Amino acid sequence: MRFIHLSDPHLQKDDFHLFGLDPYLRLKLAIKSINKNFKDTEFIVITGDLTESGDTKAYRKLKRIVKKSKIEVILLMGNHDNRNNFVKVFKNYPVIENYIQNTKIYNEKAFIFLDTKIENSPSGDMSDEQFLWFEKELLKVQDKDTYIFMHHPPMNVGIPIMDKMKFNSSKRLKLLLKKYTNIKYLFFGHLHRVVTGIWSCIPYFGIRGTNHQLSLKHSITHQYTTNEEKPAFGIVDIKDDNIVINVHEYLDEDKCYLIEE
Ligand SMILES: [Fe+2]
Repeated sequence: MRFIHLSDPHLQKDDFHLFGLDPYLRLKLAIKSINKNFKDTEFIVITGDLTESGDTKAYRKLKRIVKKSKIEVILLMGNHDNRNNFVKVFKNYPVIENYIQNTKIYNEKAFIFLDTKIENSPSGDMSDEQFLWFEKELLKVQDKDTYIFMHHPPMNVGIPIMDKMKFNSSKRLKLLLKKYTNIKYLFFGHLHRVVTGIWSCIPYFGIRGTNHQLSLKHSITHQYTTNEEKPAFGIVDIKDDNIVINVHEYLDEDKCYLIEE
């Protein structure tokens, strides 16, 4: 089975650009690319920072794009989002205990989507109630291969400015996940970079944003700067005991050259 991982579209209200780029157009082109080239996909997940400032107008723009998708789109909250405004626009979106969290089963595998947004902070966390809910969900699906999605990475990734704003309760999360051997992969956004590794025996993957990217060089010296790396999404293929992630830069996907033998 296949799913597609997008993140951090940072949609603006009205036609405002962000860092000189058009977030609405860039997300629209990602969905267009998926509709055209990657039809055989179970779902698309956008791992948070759906909007830049959490405005209802920006969520309405997101809704227009989601409606164009031929594939189900799953939405997560990021630190730039506003849960109340999100549910005002996405009225029928499943809300569990006031959070945008959910578990779905596809092809007998479990996909758990967490809500790590906390108020007035760029960092992330979950309340005691959310940890309780998560543990119950993990118990329910312990006989299934399980994939976890969240906006904030729970580990340090070697970028000091981002490590300061990761998921706060990482030790608690690690202890919980250690009880389960069926956790196959962890996916997140927030970093606006491709980052992979293994945390407490769990492989993880973070993808670029669909609008702007984080400059690694400057971020290591504690400045948050964006750069001109292109937006991309991750195409995740799971077959038998093999999980493959291809990073696709979709803006220039039609510019290619035939290699003649
Ligand atoms: Fe972001």
